[in-house]
Amino acid sequence: MNTLYLGDCLNVLRDNVPDQSVDLIYIDPPFNSKRDYNIFFDDKEIQTQRIAFEDTWTLKNIQDSLAELHTLKTDYLYFLLLTYQKVAPHAFPYLTMMSLRILEMHRVLKQTGSFYLHCDPTMSHYLKTICDLVFGVKNFANEVIWQRINAKGNVQRKFGAVHDILFRYSKNMGDEIWNQVYRPLDDSYVNKMYRFIEEETGRRYRLSDLTAPIQRASKGQLYEWKGITPPRTRCWVYAKDKMQELEDSGLIVYSKNGIPNLKRYLDSNEGEKIPDVWTDIPQTIGNEFLGYPTQKPKALLERIINASSNEGDTVLDGFSGCGTTVDAAEGLHRNWIGIDISPIAISLIKRRLNDTYGEHLNKFEVRGTPTDEQSAIELWKQNPNAFQDWWLTEFEVFSTTFGTKGADKGIDGIAQYLVTPLNPPFGKGGKQKGGSTFGGEEGVIRAAFQVKGGVHIQSKDIDALLGAMDKHKCGLGVFLTIAEPTKPMLDTIASSGFIEIPGFKIPRLQILTLEDYFKNKLLKLPKYNITFKAARLKGKRKQNQMKMDI
Ligand SMILES: C[S@@+](CC[C@H](N)C(=O)[O-])C[C@H]1O[C@@H](n2cnc3c(N)ncnc32)[C@H](O)[C@@H]1O
Repeated sequence: MNTLYLGDCLNVLRDNVPDQSVDLIYIDPPFNSKRDYNIFFDDKEIQTQRIAFEDTWTLKNIQDSLAELHTLKTDYLYFLLLTYQKVAPHAFPYLTMMSLRILEMHRVLKQTGSFYLHCDPTMSHYLKTICDLVFGVKNFANEVIWQRINAKGNVQRKFGAVHDILFRYSKNMGDEIWNQVYRPLDDSYVNKMYRFIEEETGRRYRLSDLTAPIQRASKGQLYEWKGITPPRTRCWVYAKDKMQELEDSGLIVYSKNGIPNLKRYLDSNEGEKIPDVWTDIPQTIGNEFLGYPTQKPKALLERIINASSNEGDTVLDGFSGCGTTVDAAEGLHRNWIGIDISPIAISLIKRRLNDTYGEHLNKFEVRGTPTDEQSAIELWKQNPNAFQDWWLTEFEVFSTTFGTKGADKGIDGIAQYLVTPLNPPFGKGGKQKGGSTFGGEEGVIRAAFQVKGGVHIQSKDIDALLGAMDKHKCGLGVFLTIAEPTKPMLDTIASSGFIEIPGFKIPRLQILTLEDYFKNKLLKLPKYNITFKAARLKGKRKQNQMKMDI
């Protein structure tokens, strides 16, 4: 079954993906740019940002990885990395981490499989040497240059960087699945080359030379045709019987001097074979853009998947981001495996697939997220931030205090819901001072979320949530907790009143325990959560960061 894994692709591959089981792998790992990629949740009142993922590979754990590479009998790779440790120390940790992961990708790839590594000039030259060692130089198939943007105005004393690089390797050169892909012919080329129109049919055609260099000649290509022999350095393209076949089909046109030419129709031209410089796929824009930093265009992945796999094949992306590969694979009727280490990525992918394919979406499984109360508590013990992030993203809530920046007492997450603009004002819970009907844009209601992982919770936690709701103009408040609430907390919640939206009465404050969550107790929330979708509507790019204006 199609599967989405939350986790480090190294562990996921090792624990779950058998040898030689995947037809196509595309990866777009962080490029070692030494920066974090942030998504902003931005308005006048609340300026928070969260790290979607970090792109800083440090020396932590590198020694273990290196030792492992040594024991894996990858001697050349090991010595190459030791060399980089000396000559490119800035790249060494990143390359060590990537080496282990590329080795796993090689293991899971079928003999007929292909591997695409997307990177940029920061690390491409180093990564190619690693891939050459893992896959073998003879299995290197292409270096594709993808021109992301047209021009860069803000550069000084260097040429503007407008391209990324894709390396393509076959597991076993010559056995790989390959479907030639074409792009439409350029208009100027068509006008210049296809100059003739057949009177009877109106079909457009060009004439091509029927001779070839003599070096390519076999005996059968040297003969006289209708009194003409090719010049001394040339031979006929076809043997005589094929030439006769073309003649009989009316495909040979003679010049005034009797020189034969082959008629080639425009409508039987499949297009131009795509070369290794791709300038025809623009960076993700408009409705397709989900607000995820480094999101790649779906057209790019469709080209790769069409070229190197067939329907029913399995496509794997070990660094899925917001799921461009799995979205394209689903649309092209491939099976897929998506892996990402960031909960926000997994949450976005789930939403993206549902939005794009609705009822036509094939069943898929999500693994690596807590599946019961015990595993969720385990996650909290190991990593409270990841626990908070996981729980909030389960409700498609934007985590506001992830990492260290933007922490705000009383609020850990914020969500937005679409409600009709004709809604009446707040119900008994009281109309909020200032702001619009529901504390946000007209027709939009916000909810503040607070997550408590510890065993002790107190009334002042609820007070803090109420304060945050006021401050950030949130009509609703949700308290998520591992511990059972105390009686005074429940009293505060019960007396906080309701908000009315047409057909619904929603408690202004709600509380949900982890136990209840896993017993499928639901929160009462408006149906249309637009927290992340708003990025699709309004997301825009700002240098290297994506801004999510909500
Ligand atoms: C450049 S982005 C991929 C963007 C993706 N191609 C798209 O179109 O959205 C890199 C992704 O790798 C993830 N990542 C980083 N280290 C990882 C690891 N060790 N295992 C799995 N995912 C990882 C990050 O969370 C991030 O989402």
